[in-house]
Amino acid sequence: MQAGCDMLMKQLLKSILRRFQKPVYRLARELVDFYEYSGYYGNIDLHTMMTLAERKTLESIVARKKPEVAVEIGSWKGASTTIIARHSGVVYAIDPFTGAPDSWEVHSAARHDVLKVFRNNLRIMGISNVIPIVGKSADVFNVFGRCVDFVFIDGDHTRPGILADLRWREKLRFGGVICGHDAETYYSELPEELRMEVKKSTADYLVDRGLHPGVIYALYTVFHDEHMIEPGTSIWWCQC
Ligand SMILES: C[S@@+](CC[C@H](N)C(=O)[O-])C[C@H]1O[C@@H](n2cnc3c(N)ncnc32)[C@H](O)[C@@H]1O
Repeated sequence: MQAGCDMLMKQLLKSILRRFQKPVYRLARELVDFYEYSGYYGNIDLHTMMTLAERKTLESIVARKKPEVAVEIGSWKGASTTIIARHSGVVYAIDPFTGAPDSWEVHSAARHDVLKVFRNNLRIMGISNVIPIVGKSADVFNVFGRCVDFVFIDGDHTRPGILADLRWREKLRFGGVICGHDAETYYSELPEELRMEVKKSTADYLVDRGLHPGVIYALYTVFHDEHMIEPGTSIWWCQC
């Protein structure tokens, strides 16, 4: 009788588990992703606009390249910097640490010292191969020779800003990789009416379209859409 009850209990538990396993697993996965995506771990504030998939993609691109010298344009609190640093000899992280003009970052940067947060994050994570350069990418363009293996662009997202930053490909050694964030699609793959809108737009982000017109059109102008955009992300890259 007891054995029969145990068996029944086990079957009941199994069927309950089967029914709830997937949703519980999915919920747990979403919680972990949310935690990672939020970028807050104890004293570390690595808040970023890059999704988990985008961070993993950036990591796989830079890990493949293993740059001796990397340049990052637009570091904010260092989420992308720490990824690049893990696989690089040295990283020059260029950022005025004041936020992109007309963006939410400016208001955030007015409330707290972003450079201090950036340095604190690197210190806690034990990363010592990052050299912050406090200023705009254009200010130090001429300081660098053709000595860079990897450039990551996530700074000024206006079209003139991106076009200027794409000139950093001139700093790449043979086989170097230039990549960046916020290319949601290829310009040539947009429907005709959206192409017009993107081409004419001077905004850095079209909220209702979920597109960065400056990035999308600048990449089309420079690479004729022969760059790669990694599926499911807005990470673009090109080997030069
Ligand atoms: C979107 S955030 C970068 C986020 C960072 N890559 C991450 O994933 O955590 C953009 C950053 O670019 C910086 N920025 C804006 N214009 C810049 C410029 N001309 N040169 C370098 N950095 C710039 C801003 O101060 C801001 O910190």
